[in-house]
Amino acid sequence: MTNPVILTGLRANNDLQIGNYFGAMLPIIDMAKSRSHDYQVNMFIPDLHSFTTPIDHSELQAQILHNARLYAAAGLPLDDDNIHLYRQSYVPAHSELTWILDCFTGFGEMSRMTQFKDKSGKLGDSQISVGLFNYPVLMAADILLYDAKYVPVGDDQTQHLEFARDIAERMNNRFGELFVVPEPVKAQHEFFGKEQGLRIMDLVNPTKKMSKSDETGKGVIFLGDEPATAAKKIMSATTDDKASVNYNPAEQPGISNLLDILALLRGKPVAEVASQYAGMDRYGDFKKIVADEMQKFLIDLQKSYDTYDSATIVAKLEASERAMNEQAGATLLRVQRAVGLRPPKEYDEI
Ligand code: TRP
Repeated sequence: MTNPVILTGLRANNDLQIGNYFGAMLPIIDMAKSRSHDYQVNMFIPDLHSFTTPIDHSELQAQILHNARLYAAAGLPLDDDNIHLYRQSYVPAHSELTWILDCFTGFGEMSRMTQFKDKSGKLGDSQISVGLFNYPVLMAADILLYDAKYVPVGDDQTQHLEFARDIAERMNNRFGELFVVPEPVKAQHEFFGKEQGLRIMDLVNPTKKMSKSDETGKGVIFLGDEPATAAKKIMSATTDDKASVNYNPAEQPGISNLLDILALLRGKPVAEVASQYAGMDRYGDFKKIVADEMQKFLIDLQKSYDTYDSATIVAKLEASERAMNEQAGATLLRVQRAVGLRPPKEYDEI
């Protein structure tokens, strides 16, 4: 018996910051580690998805490797045979299945996808690619090729997961059991546990979420920041004039955000950290504690990043890609036979 499959695409954007790290990367890595005994865990870099909107192509190759390496640096075990780490474009079945599914997908249903409407709304006509329109079909192929049952997705991706279920059912109704239908969104949330709604706020303006698009960069800590620079950003974080450390995001958003950050750095519940410093009146002293731990965290992460050379990363990617080509290839053949692109099974047994 093969284990059920958990599958997730690792969004590969530039300039990851600590909000991405604690909110997305670490939970995914923890999930992979804790589930890999009973599940096959597929983690992949959706490189074909990465230019559905315009990008600088001269950076793509480096970015793909940087992302894989960052996951390794953050603790993703490379020696676990049940955790696969691969590049989408190195498994050509993704593109091939996409084309086949395209021909069973309605123009209307793709036009109704909210992410397409949002993203295309922000682009000029000549920049809206057919690839952007087709994005959910490629994503469905990503999932269906491996019979994936569990797919952790954020709220912005639930409509795409629903589409993957729809197209799987549509094909199964038409051609017999071709695909495993992934679990519905509600069951996904039950399986993975509803996200804690983690939000790290901007250091300068703690009522808005920390985001890489902040122009000054002062309110945001990037994973690639000089550790000393990051410490300075913490030291100059906006606080309040209450002169008392308390966890109260409504009244003291700046201090509460620093408590959240400290709790994440320590891997402890915020209530525990908050009670340790409750009532402390010298904000400078409190900030120094957070700044030191942030500095140490970045030093360790960057050191860990440096210990992985590209050869180690590429070896893992290639090993996974070999295994994935086999699995995905088998699914693709099933579909090709069903739609008449390959002779039925009986023939090659003669
Ligand atoms: N679209 C996903 C995101 O933006 C990334 C992704 C691509 C994905 N293919 C996937 C996620 C398949 C889950 C399954 O986050």
